[in-house]
Order: sequence, then structure tokens, then C-alpha cells
Amino acid sequence: MQMSYDLIVIGSGPGGYVCAIRAAQLGMKVAVVEKDDTFGGTCLNIGCIPSKALLHASELYDEAGHMLDKMGINVGAPKLDLRAMMKFKDAGVDGNVKGVAFLFKKNKIDTMHGIGRIVAPGKVEIKTANGKTETIEGKAIVIATGSDVARLPGIDIDEQRIVSSTGALVLAKVPERLLVIGAGVIGLELGSVWRRLGSEVIVVEWLDRILPGIDNEVCRQVQRIFERQGMKFKLSSKVAGIETGGKKVKVTVEPAAGGTPESIESDVVLVAIGRVPFTEGLGLETAGVKMDNKRRIIVDARFATNVPGIYAIGDVIAGPMLAHKAMDEGTAVAELLAGQAGHVNYDVIPNVVYTYPEIASVGKSEEELKEAGIAYKVGKFPFTANGRAKANLQTDGFVKILADAKTDRVLGVHIVGADAGNMIAEAAVAMEFGAASEDIARTCHPHPTFTEAVKEAALAVDKRAIHM
Ligand code: FAD
Ligand code: NAI
Repeated sequence: MQMSYDLIVIGSGPGGYVCAIRAAQLGMKVAVVEKDDTFGGTCLNIGCIPSKALLHASELYDEAGHMLDKMGINVGAPKLDLRAMMKFKDAGVDGNVKGVAFLFKKNKIDTMHGIGRIVAPGKVEIKTANGKTETIEGKAIVIATGSDVARLPGIDIDEQRIVSSTGALVLAKVPERLLVIGAGVIGLELGSVWRRLGSEVIVVEWLDRILPGIDNEVCRQVQRIFERQGMKFKLSSKVAGIETGGKKVKVTVEPAAGGTPESIESDVVLVAIGRVPFTEGLGLETAGVKMDNKRRIIVDARFATNVPGIYAIGDVIAGPMLAHKAMDEGTAVAELLAGQAGHVNYDVIPNVVYTYPEIASVGKSEEELKEAGIAYKVGKFPFTANGRAKANLQTDGFVKILADAKTDRVLGVHIVGADAGNMIAEAAVAMEFGAASEDIARTCHPHPTFTEAVKEAALAVDKRAIHM
């Protein structure tokens, strides 16, 4: 195997593998170093893909129990075969990680399994599982080592009864009660999975709201919907301690501001309080690569660290911890290294929570616009007034478009509804082209589709929605 490369990528998650493929397409000789047995990183192995497979399967299970009879389909009460559902999920992961291996081969990318450590600029030492080491050289090194679960001090995640998202994706049986710490994306997505499969789900959140960072109106509405579905929330609360001695896990929950604690017994506790950049064992201190106070690698607009020849992308740098953000950075850095004009527009990164209904947004929230002192107009359209949603009995949610009061330029789009995750792409394209709400309003949308609600919300910016 060649030991000298144009580019060495450390980590094969969405950031790393996309970067490697794009660099190979541009004619570079590329090596990828991955510590795990399979490629694809958090996203494909223990993140986006398995969680979405379980969300899909559990949503159908839920529908079979509550919706099919309403459509005249009588199949009786659905029976859960959790092992088979897990196999279905694993098959999805397997297909995806093999897909990445295939793409590496197709693009003639050399791959090495082992922990990569930067021993000097341009030099990466790889320590394999059997303890052997080898060193390869690269003109450029891209660090794409991703992130890891954030932990709570004093609470040991055993991945059996106290689990992170990783353990919550492989539970062997449906917990009678699941206590989730953190009402963020993971808490709501995986909380939804287990609630649909039969768990009583209680979510403890430090803040006085769920999904921090997402438009307040959206959060208020989805919280009500989740509560109607049976999820319970304890907001402005913190977990003060966990006892695992007995048959049940005893969780002490108290008001965030202090006050009388209560004890909640649970079968499983899911810790979902965020993720932290993963830089362990990389040799960053020795190489002199600077990190910020959250241990994120500091990069400039070209993804370059302070050490010449070393770049970083994805969850390990600042910005939203999202697979598509990592992928776009992977493409951009490869193109920059090839002398092209790689670029990521951080103002237009969509965000999707794959619950039911889905929650999707791109651009600014109302709160962000207010804080920035930008005058804006709001156009809103509920799915209760959308023909297809009514026909499907999927009327939860709305589309909200925020447009600049003077120029009408779209500044933010927020969608709560079935399939919102697919619908938000239209808004992202519009915003990328600098569209006005008028442009969306005048674009012919197919009937009958949920997307007509996007057009109607755009019409509503100018108070001329038709179906409301
Ligand atoms: P990662 O995917 O974390 O990949 C980093 C890779 O580097 C890993 O394979 C790791 O083994 C390897 N590595 C680390 N250190 C070394 C080393 N020293 N040597 C060699 N290899 C190393 N995002 C979305 O956009 N949509 C979703 O639906 C979504 N769902 C998620 C669900 C869950 C449960 C979780 C946990 C995350 C989810 N995310 C989702 C976030 C998404 O997974 C991350 O944003 C994304 O994986 C980041 O990509 P990355 O390439 O930066 O890092
Ligand atoms: P998160 O940042 O989305 O949410 C964490 C929540 O925990 C916040 O609401 C926070 O206020 C709360 N919290 C923090 N400390 C707490 C404490 N001590 N007690 C109670 N609550 C506390 O993080 P999460 O859900 O762990 O997900 C990590 C990241 O993974 C996300 O930020 C996202 O970037 C990515 N992800 C993306 C998905 C998607 O795009 N659909 C799905 C899953 C994860």
C-alpha cells in the first residue's frame, strides 16, 4: 500500500467520507483512517440511520394500532416483535456502511482501520486493534473525528439501564418506564420510538422549554402534540442523582432553581443532554492544534487549523452537529484543497427533528430576528386547511414563513407536519437563491400535496392565502 498521500482523512463519518470521495474525484490520492470496524461514523452506525429506521418502524406500528382501522383496514391489534424490528434497523445500517466501503473502493481510496494520531504535521500514525502501528504521510490532513455523548458528572452510562442514544437504539425489551434527561433532538426522537412501542416516557429538561434553538411558537405547539401522544415533560427540572441498587432505577428530580426533590422510578434512563467533540488520542496538543473552551477545533473560513496542512470539519468544529453540515464541509474543504472555491452557507442549514409530526426549519427563528432588530412579516398556514392533510387525517402542524418586512426576502421557514423534513428542502433552495416570499407564492405547487401549505404560507405573508 502507498504510504504517501495528497490527503489523509481521519474519521469516516459523513464529514470524512464525503471529503475523501470529493477529493478523489478531484484527482487526489486519498487515505481514510477509521478506528471502528465499519465506515460511516456516528451517523450511519449509531445515529441518523438506525434512529430513523426505528422511528419509521415504530411509526408504522403506532399507525397500525391507531390509524389503519379509521381507513377501513382491519388487521387487528399489532404485535411487536422487537428482535425483528432491531434486525430491520441493523439491515439498514449494514446496507449504508457497506455503501460507503463500496464508494471508497470505487474512488480508489485507501482505507486503514485503527486509531489515527497526528505525530507531526503531515504524518499520521495508525494504531491497529492488534497493537501494531504504521505511519503514513499526507500533504494535507483533514480531522473529521466527530463527537461523543456528553455525560452528567457522577452518572455512569452502563448502556443497559442508564443509556446514551447508542444504548437506546439496542434495548432488548421495551422499558415499562423510560426517563429521558434532555428534551433535545435525541430525547424527543428516541423518546417517541419507545413511547410508540409501549413505554411510559417522562422527559426531564433543565430549561423551561423543549428543543432550545428552535422557534418558540413551534416548540409550544409540538410540546402540546407530544403531550397529547402521551409523553410527559418536567421542564425547569434537573436530575440530582440516580440510584441503581434496586430492581428499578431511582431518579431524584428537583426544580432547576432548587426546591423539593421528587423520586421517580424508571426501568431505563436515557441521557441525552448533548454531544461533545471527539478529539481523544488524536495528538492535537503535541501537534499544537488550537481548540476552544468546548474542545472544538478552531478553524478559519477555509477549515484550516492554526497548524499548516491540518484542517478540520464536522462535529469536531463549531456549528450545528448535523450530518449534512459535516458533508457540505467535507465537500468544501476538498474543493479548497484542489484550488477550487469550496463554500458552506451557514445561514441555510436545514434542521429536522424526525418525530411525528416532523419539525423542520431553515434560517432564522422569530426570536433571532427580534434579537437582531430585523423587521419581518409572518405568513402562516395550518395543515388543517390543506386538502391532502385533511384527506390523510394528518392535520397536525403548520408552515410559517418569515420574510423581511422591506425586501420580502425569505429569512426563515418553519414547518411542523407529516413529512416536514422533505418539505424543508424547497425552502432551503428558495433561500439559497435569495427568494422573496412572493417567489414561493407564485411558484406552481402540485395538488394535492402537503407542499401547497408552503405556497399558502408564502401567500399569507401578504395576507392573501386562498384556503384560509
Ligand atoms: P462522526 O459521524 O462522528 O464520525 C467520526 C468518525 O471518526 C467515527 O467513525 C469515529 O470512529 C472516527 N474517529 C474518531 N477519532 C478517530 C481517530 N483518532 N482515528 C480514527 N478514526 C477516528 N444528524 C443529522 O443531520 N440528521 C439526523 O437525523 C441525525 N440523527 C442522529 C441521531 C443520533 C442518535 C445521533 C447520536 C446523532 C445524530 N445526528 C444526526 C448527528 C450526526 O450523526 C453527526 O452530526 C454526524 O455524524 C457528524 O459527522 P462527522 O463526520 O463530523 O463525525
Ligand atoms: P440537544 O443539544 O439537542 O439537547 C440536549 C437537551 O438537554 C437540551 O434541551 C438541554 O437544555 C438539555 N440539558 C442539558 N443538560 C441538562 C441537564 N443536566 N438536565 C436536563 N436537561 C439538560 O442534544 P441531544 O438531544 O443529546 O443531541 C445531540 C446532537 O445530536 C444534537 O444537538 C444534534 O445536533 C444531533 N442530532 C441530530 C438529529 C437530527 O438532526 N434529527 C437527531 C439526533 C441528534
